[in-house]
Parts: sequence; C-alpha cells; structure tokens
Amino acid sequence: MHAAVAARTGAALSAALPSIAVLISGEGTNLQALIDAERAGTLGARITVVVSNRAAARGLERARGADIPAEHLPATRGLPREAYDSALAELLARYAPSVIVLAGFMRIFTPEFVALFSGRMLNIHPALLPLHRGLDTHRRVLETGDRWHGATVHFVTAELDAGPRIIQYRLPVRPEDTVETLARRVHVGEHIILPRAVAWLSAGRLSLAGGQVILDGRVLPEPVVVKEEQ
Ligand code: GRF
Repeated sequence: MHAAVAARTGAALSAALPSIAVLISGEGTNLQALIDAERAGTLGARITVVVSNRAAARGLERARGADIPAEHLPATRGLPREAYDSALAELLARYAPSVIVLAGFMRIFTPEFVALFSGRMLNIHPALLPLHRGLDTHRRVLETGDRWHGATVHFVTAELDAGPRIIQYRLPVRPEDTVETLARRVHVGEHIILPRAVAWLSAGRLSLAGGQVILDGRVLPEPVVVKEEQ
C-alpha cells in the first residue's frame, strides 16, 4: 500500500476506536500506562482528552507530550459541587468520550454526574476493595497488619470506592514494607490492571448490568485477580 494511503487508513481506523477521557489530579503514572498501551495498540481506544482539577498536575504535561488535549478545570473556593460537576460534564461533552477513566482524580462527584456515565466510568483505587476505601490506604494497611494489599479497578457508582469490582492486583505485605515501598509496588500493579480493564470496556467485553459486572457474557462473581510476580 502507498504510504500516504496507509497513513490515512491508520488514521481512519484509530478514529473509529472508542474515545476515552482520563481525569487526573497528580503525577499521572496511570495515565502514562494508558498512553503507552494506546501506543502499543493494546488499549483498543483513543485517549481524546485529559482533565485535571490541579494546574500543577504532572499528568497534564504527560498528556501534552503525547499530543492529547490537556484541560485544566479548577475548582474555585466556595464553588458548589454541582456547579463543578456541570462544568466538567460540559467540558467532557465537547469530546464526547464513550469511557471515563478516573486515574487519581481527587474529587468526589455528585450522584447526578455519576449517573451520566453509568457503566462507562472506571476508577482505580490503591487497596483491595472493599478494604480501605478513601485516602491513605498504604498507611492503614500497615497499621491494620494486613497480610495482603493491592489495587482495584471498579465501576464508579454514587457511593465512594464502593462500585462493582472488576479486577484486582494482589501482593503480600512484607515485614520490611513501608508506606513508600507499598506505594511503589501497588503502582506497578495499577499500571497492569487499569489498561486491561479499559481495553475490556472499549472492546465491549465488559459491562455493568443490574449492579453486576459482566465479562465476556458472564456475571463476574469476584474480581479477576492478578498476582504480583515474585
Ligand atoms: C493511584 O495510586 C490511584 O490508585 C489513586 O491515585 C493514584 C494516582 O497515581 N486513585 P498516578 O497519578 O496515576 O501516578
């Protein structure tokens, strides 16, 4: 095939892929894992916009570096949650994403916003949900003396960190572990499970029906588990 024709065909093919919006607040290593998977052709989707509520989020630079539109939507002091969420919904509508990925987005949504993207919004959480919802999970794992830790990708529902679980990364907590070592080891796993779940959703293999996770046509009674390599 002529190179120009091949390039156009490639562009047309990638335009036909489902589009994803990634919401971040910080470093954006999970965003980077998604960008890498898109480049490797394993995501089955295009990241069409990255949104951060923080201007200094390093993830915004990662997006710009990958030629992805990077939008900063600040939450001004005193702005009601509803107002922020409608501004965010308006911004997202301009890109018409089929999937929303929360990759370290440090805000809580109104139920109305969540309902807009029911079954189409994923979150990654650094713990083995339902254990340790909320913040500071690595410290809490150490304080509780848990033997296992990890990360979970789940569908987002109105209740924080409580939506149906899709896939988990599990690792054994070692006696010498600290908050820092756990954070590092959990991140390794997050970068495996998040692109995988996004690829399933983009390919139409994953859905949410009646509060249950359906993967490849079957109800998933427990999340898929990926274990840390020893
Ligand atoms: C991750 O640990 C994720 O589980 C949590 O926020 C962190 C984001 O990390 N929700 P990064 O910005 O992707 O590096």
